[in-house]
Amino acid sequence: MSIALRRSDFPADFRWGVSTSSFQIEGAGQADGKGESIWDRFCSQPGRIRDGSNALVACDHYHRWPQDLDLARALGVNAYRFSIAWPRVLPQGRGVANEAGLAFYDRLVDGMLERGLDPWCTLYHWDLPQALQEQGGWVSRDTVGAFLDYTELVTRRLGDRVKHWITHNEPWCSCIMGYWEGVHAPGGTRLADAIQACHHVLLSHGQAVSLIRRHSAGARVGITLSLHPIAAASDSAEDLAAMRRHDGLRNRWFLDPLHGRGYPEDTLALLGAAAPHVAPGDLEAIATATDFLGVNYYYPERVQDDPAGGPMRARLVERDGVERTGFGWEVSPEGLVDLLTRIQRDYQPPVIQLTENGSTFDDVLTPEGRVHDQQRLSYLQRHLVALRQAIAAGVPVQGYFAWSLLDNFEWAEGYLRRFGLAHVDYATQQRVLKDSGLWYQRFLSE
Ligand code: FCB
Repeated sequence: MSIALRRSDFPADFRWGVSTSSFQIEGAGQADGKGESIWDRFCSQPGRIRDGSNALVACDHYHRWPQDLDLARALGVNAYRFSIAWPRVLPQGRGVANEAGLAFYDRLVDGMLERGLDPWCTLYHWDLPQALQEQGGWVSRDTVGAFLDYTELVTRRLGDRVKHWITHNEPWCSCIMGYWEGVHAPGGTRLADAIQACHHVLLSHGQAVSLIRRHSAGARVGITLSLHPIAAASDSAEDLAAMRRHDGLRNRWFLDPLHGRGYPEDTLALLGAAAPHVAPGDLEAIATATDFLGVNYYYPERVQDDPAGGPMRARLVERDGVERTGFGWEVSPEGLVDLLTRIQRDYQPPVIQLTENGSTFDDVLTPEGRVHDQQRLSYLQRHLVALRQAIAAGVPVQGYFAWSLLDNFEWAEGYLRRFGLAHVDYATQQRVLKDSGLWYQRFLSE
């Protein structure tokens, strides 16, 4: 199927990017004074990572970054989203900085600027220093202060050159999956911990905004959320109510306080004793005005009423006969339109940046060194068509960042899931643009 889609269908100043994160690509897990992160620790525990792997080498981006930035430039993107590994610059989480770690990010940012790539820096993409976890991690309010000190260090150092900052990536994942579901680092299993962790992450975001602006003149600051359009499995009143309950924790729990509405009352009531401790002034801090909302979109969810389905009394159900990625995630470009128009209708953020969108499939590297990833290519094209539709409907989206530049360490799935526009051969560290990457390159060059 050919899709009529041109770069010129989008605003001329649109940001076209690729997205990456430190832990998933850098490797060099113990190099040059880097401290241990909660993900290093998690990987060392048997049974945590599906293929038993770790990210000590990953894509070896720490050493190969010039060639990776060359690849991004060759794609034709004008923005590059990356994250800082907190334990690389503060091995103990706070206190003495590691000059070698800071110098690495200096070189990386300079490398982006030399190649015409606008640096978009995420401060926290899940690799908390293990030393802070030993003091409670995000469940402890002290981690908020540590995050602010870390933010100050990084923005003082890079704030003259980095003008786009994302405080946190996907608090739902770092807190709910990390402190309640036990499937991400640090592997916690208490709902109340996860909810308190969410509160501290949001608080640290809000308090960091003015700090970032102080050290990075003219900076644009935002937070990135993982958001999902949610449908009810049927029209029954029970399923519709379950949909609203699920939406409460999945989406509104973050969107409401960030937009000055505090935590949703219905969700608070369902959480009961697991509701967060909120100090005076916290909600005002969380609602500090930002310049954009980062949205990561992968798939929609469908929900059924389930009295035994946890505090939200809801259960996810799969739609039959729909297209799915290798992860089993439903492919739904319409879901992106639904999600963006809903955010716009309910919250009116000044600007939205689509900071991640992508798909995983079982790629095959041919003997000729090609990857004919037709499904990923089609996913990418159709989501861009959906994005164009959302923009035409008035949603102020100003950028799109494909997840991801490279195949990489996909958290609890290890190296089993490939999301890259470029294939990585982990034995040789060779990168090859897949057909999806070649298409993105052609699209961007028109
Ligand atoms: C998102 C994460 C990103 C990557 C993609 C597939 O939830 O932000 O690091 O793992 O999913």
